[in-house]
Amino acid sequence: MILKGLMEEKKDKVYKRDAISYYDQPMRSSRYDPVKVRWEDKICQDHYRVMVNRLVERGEKLRILDFGCGIGYGYHLLSNILDEDAPVEEDGCKLLDKDDIEHYVGLDINHDLLEIANDRYNSDEKVATRQCDFLHDEYPERAFNIYFSSGVPFSHFNDDDFSSLLEKIFKHIKNFGQSAFLVVDVLGRYSIEWQSRWADPSWHVYNMSFFSDGKVNEQVYMKFWGEELNDFVIDAAQEAGVKAELFDAFDRSVFIGRHIDTSSFNPNLKKMRTMVNGLFYPLERAPLPDMFMDYTYEGAPEDVSAYYERITYYWNYALMTACNYLVRNTGLKIKKKIRYL
Ligand SMILES: C[S@@+](CC[C@H](N)C(=O)[O-])C[C@H]1O[C@@H](n2cnc3c(N)ncnc32)[C@H](O)[C@@H]1O
Repeated sequence: MILKGLMEEKKDKVYKRDAISYYDQPMRSSRYDPVKVRWEDKICQDHYRVMVNRLVERGEKLRILDFGCGIGYGYHLLSNILDEDAPVEEDGCKLLDKDDIEHYVGLDINHDLLEIANDRYNSDEKVATRQCDFLHDEYPERAFNIYFSSGVPFSHFNDDDFSSLLEKIFKHIKNFGQSAFLVVDVLGRYSIEWQSRWADPSWHVYNMSFFSDGKVNEQVYMKFWGEELNDFVIDAAQEAGVKAELFDAFDRSVFIGRHIDTSSFNPNLKKMRTMVNGLFYPLERAPLPDMFMDYTYEGAPEDVSAYYERITYYWNYALMTACNYLVRNTGLKIKKKIRYL
């Protein structure tokens, strides 16, 4: 009995240590690799900009409630949106002034991650965190105009729990009698990473082997969502007596998600995330000829398949242009025969 207790404590410590290093280090192999920071986050911020502008135009300051905030990344994402025409590499053209954000409250069940958030933002009086289970515990008694999520915290819930969570959020919005945005970040059903599971019912055992250098493999239930998400959210709003409508929907991570590299559910994929990450390091030569996309999309609905084919065409076109440029201007020899798809 005591031994079990000790072992559990040890396991717990290892988990906390790995969680902290996974979330807190700006390294290539960490959560914050270049693909996340320079690609996925930028795409999200391009879309969040439209939402934020809508609030600012209405004369509102941002009041953010972040569900499953972890280290407070939602605050980082929203407060660091750049102006629309800012150059990609430019970090000095922020859309929002400090005063545009009234308050940010991050909710999370994990005390260790909240400690990192608190350390990081302890000098920022607009930021507060609360350790709680957002499914069951009460929310702060104040009005918010962005109910935010990032890093797919809602993909862990079955339909009943997710639906009651959404109802709870909509009732909170209703109580304060003001309109608000809700950002629902979930895993996409037809991501190429889990092509072998596209036909399955929505529940999957998800092996988070990208977590913590693959040392901690957590078996967690995940729900993957397609277009049906919209009706699901709107139904929950109706149950709560609130009128909701879709403002925007987008994919942030097409062909370069984290499980592209683990090949856990689709062994036929190239390690595209690693290769794209390589593009960001000046002393490395990215293996351009290996980066051409030649996947097939059996099992996808027609519109999804057409979408992938269009992206594949653009991707291969851009790659071919880059390869031709290098061959012509640097004398680079590309050994592999490049097939134009
Ligand atoms: C993958 S992380 C995302 C963290 C952060 N939003 C980000 O973008 O980096 C999901 C977070 O949701 C939290 N979480 C999951 N279920 C929760 C619940 N019922 N109540 C509170 N937090 C929860 C986890 O502790 C974890 O920090």
